[in-house]
Amino acid sequence: MAGNAVGLGNFLRFPRQAAANGGGSFMVPYFIALLVIGIPLMWIEWGIGRNGGRYRKGHFPGMVAAIWKHPAAKYVGVVGMVIPLAVMIYYTYLESWTAAFALFSITKDYWGITTQEGMIGYLRSFQAIHADGATVYHSTWTPYLFYAGTLALNIWVLSKGISGGIEKLAKIGMPILFLFALVLAGVVLFMPEQVGIGTNPISDGLAFLYTPDFSKLSQAGVWLAAAGQIFFTLSVGMGSLQAYASYLSTKDDIVLNGIATSATNETAEVVLGGSIAIPAAVTFFGVSGAMAIAQGGSFDLGFATMPVVFQQIDKTIPIGPILGFMWFGLLFFAGITSSVSMLTPIVAFFREEFGVKRETVAWVLGGVCLVFGMMHVHWLRHGFLDEWDYWAGTFGLVLVAVVETIVFMWIFKPDEAWKSMHMGADIRIPGIFKFIMTYITPLYLFVLLGWWGATEALPILFNERSAGGSAPVDDVSWPYVAASRSILILFFVVFAVLVRIAWKRNKYDDRKGFVELSTNRAEA
Ligand code: PHE
Repeated sequence: MAGNAVGLGNFLRFPRQAAANGGGSFMVPYFIALLVIGIPLMWIEWGIGRNGGRYRKGHFPGMVAAIWKHPAAKYVGVVGMVIPLAVMIYYTYLESWTAAFALFSITKDYWGITTQEGMIGYLRSFQAIHADGATVYHSTWTPYLFYAGTLALNIWVLSKGISGGIEKLAKIGMPILFLFALVLAGVVLFMPEQVGIGTNPISDGLAFLYTPDFSKLSQAGVWLAAAGQIFFTLSVGMGSLQAYASYLSTKDDIVLNGIATSATNETAEVVLGGSIAIPAAVTFFGVSGAMAIAQGGSFDLGFATMPVVFQQIDKTIPIGPILGFMWFGLLFFAGITSSVSMLTPIVAFFREEFGVKRETVAWVLGGVCLVFGMMHVHWLRHGFLDEWDYWAGTFGLVLVAVVETIVFMWIFKPDEAWKSMHMGADIRIPGIFKFIMTYITPLYLFVLLGWWGATEALPILFNERSAGGSAPVDDVSWPYVAASRSILILFFVVFAVLVRIAWKRNKYDDRKGFVELSTNRAEA
């Protein structure tokens, strides 16, 4: 579960979001969102997932239908299949950049490009979105190759199952990433102040993040960004935590484990993730420079600024390439232990409802991912990826969260939910959370949805601004944006049809619900 939660979100997305939203002013709504939506949703997801498992349902449509005995339930649950598939496709693409850059670090491929602008050019060249006439560093097929390789590795692990593949990967990947993160945080925080810049990693860098600033709390954007970050980083609103939880029995604890997962993720994010990219950028570019970088491209901080910093450090101690390898290696391990979780609800769906073998589902899904993933590689410049990242990876998560909160806390009822979550529990959830989870969490989610809808979703939908946050897409990009959205709708339709077929085929009675398994559900 911690491998699932700790991901690119912790080390790339968090520093970027925090810096772009003013550091200390971001952290206040961030922690509020953690308490009123993050942790409650974590428990709700473990609860709804394990409850689904009692009926052998590891997929979201089944989990919803196990509680809400209504013909519409299964279709409402389809969002919990579309979103993980979409996120898997573009997330593994981003993950493949980290693999490439780990290699480029150790081979010193970008060595000598010592300015921020230069490194941005290098990154754009790799992404194949460089301007005409700009220096081209790699052959055009490089990103495709890294993507295919990264995806294949993911699918291979997935095809080995949860205990046989994912857990084994987590046991190797998690310690490595924590070790790399600790070393990098240590190096960054003890870097000397830079001559002529006069900023210090601790007294300026960390202070930027840790000095609460209440002055910007009236800006809606900061609250929305903070809530979006909490969703993404904890992996809530996706369907994969629920799928993992479906393999637990009523004798297993989910309360303490849920909070432990959140705590591990927050340590990785705030303590480690907050001690690497931000202080490094502040030390070399000052607070305003770091904010400007973060407000620029989504990945500039991680992929352009950090390589510049490593080359600077290399002048004093010649460990730059190793630091670069550790940074991108850490990102890679964080990423892959997350991405291998994303298709688990879909694998569960085909195994449980159609009796297809795990290996078969995994590799077929891999083929599907490859086809659509190539479009992302190819059309990155046209805002193809930004669309999915917004509709599936940001807005969609809140939709899933609304569904599960209503289903678990209102339809199942607070007392039933409470009882269900406490089966086998090692500790009790503080009573106040029953109130929070029943009223505050849904209210917060609805406000978020409405606010987000008005300030972002509608303007993006009507092309008054782009999903990536910049100016509206131009005429050239519009067909790609439309195609990008159409594919998401297509996914929804296909899954809805499959769900319908599955229900017919297995003769499920919508009003009666499923038959409870007599034995404990094992993963086999
Ligand atoms: N939580 C992961 C991260 O921080 C992303 C993720 C989302 C993983 C949903 C799995 C499911 O990068």
